Amino acid sequence: MIRAMPKPKLLVTRKLPPAIEARAARDYDASFNPADTVRDGPALAAAAAGHHAILGAAGDPLGKATIQALPASIKAIATFSVGFDHVDVTAAKARGIIVANTPDVLTDATAEIAMLLIMASMRRAGEGERMVRAHAWAGWAPTQLMGLQVSGKRLGIFGMGRIGRRLADFARGFDMTIHYRDVQALPPELAKGATYHDNDESFLSAIDVLSLNAPGGEATKKWLNAARIAKLRKGAVVVNSGRGTVVDDAALCDALASGQVAFAGLDVFDGEPRIFGGYHALPNVVLLPHLGSATIETRDAMGHRALDNLNAVFAGKAPRDQVG
Ligand code: DGY
Repeated sequence: MIRAMPKPKLLVTRKLPPAIEARAARDYDASFNPADTVRDGPALAAAAAGHHAILGAAGDPLGKATIQALPASIKAIATFSVGFDHVDVTAAKARGIIVANTPDVLTDATAEIAMLLIMASMRRAGEGERMVRAHAWAGWAPTQLMGLQVSGKRLGIFGMGRIGRRLADFARGFDMTIHYRDVQALPPELAKGATYHDNDESFLSAIDVLSLNAPGGEATKKWLNAARIAKLRKGAVVVNSGRGTVVDDAALCDALASGQVAFAGLDVFDGEPRIFGGYHALPNVVLLPHLGSATIETRDAMGHRALDNLNAVFAGKAPRDQVG
């Protein structure tokens, strides 16, 4: 009699879309989290006992201490996110744990949210929505909630990776001209005529709208600080759909209060879901709860990509999206 190989044991840290949990249950001996409880590091390491892999998500506390506390049985961590700043990849590597992310599949959805933040903040959609919901709209008025025209403006993209480039495609449809700052210039077929800046000074002074699309981590921590905000034109617009850690929140709140920054739109926050207190009182900032990849199509695609990566590991192959 041929005995079936036991399925690898998989810890799924968060509640995932139904199709993804169904596939995980079919291919793995999977433990789920139907209540979607957010665990701290020690609880996550304890939950991993007896498992061979973790299907985690953005925000899971997979720093050095958690990685070091994981059981020796863990072979791989697949994160349901393109960002992997929440995983200490070096500590994982030291323990022989493979880490993989989910690039590509969320590019369009996240670029859409960046464009939405530009539109909503410049056209004052948040303020307008709040006014109507509060039964405070007395009717059309010639000077009511006048925002800034989006078309014709200069968009500066900090971080011209996949998402930054897709945002540039969308913004060109609004007749925006594109400038970008990154560690190096793109080849012409990817730059599509966008202007590269090799220094912050020329970049920040050339643009009307700044979109932050860089990854989180030490290299970009509080990159948008008071000194750089001062280099923007007065009345500039700032949107962030990358990582909250890229912004010095106190400096951005000061700039929103003084008018140095006219409008902002933020989908990500340092220390989220805790949000820097200053934002709540400012009418000229649109605040979203990290919706970047939150479409049905994209979240399914992220889950399949993460499971494809785990399948590769258990088939003895390098996963397509291995990081570190
Ligand atoms: C990611 O994938 O890194 C996103 O921020 C989660 O939506």
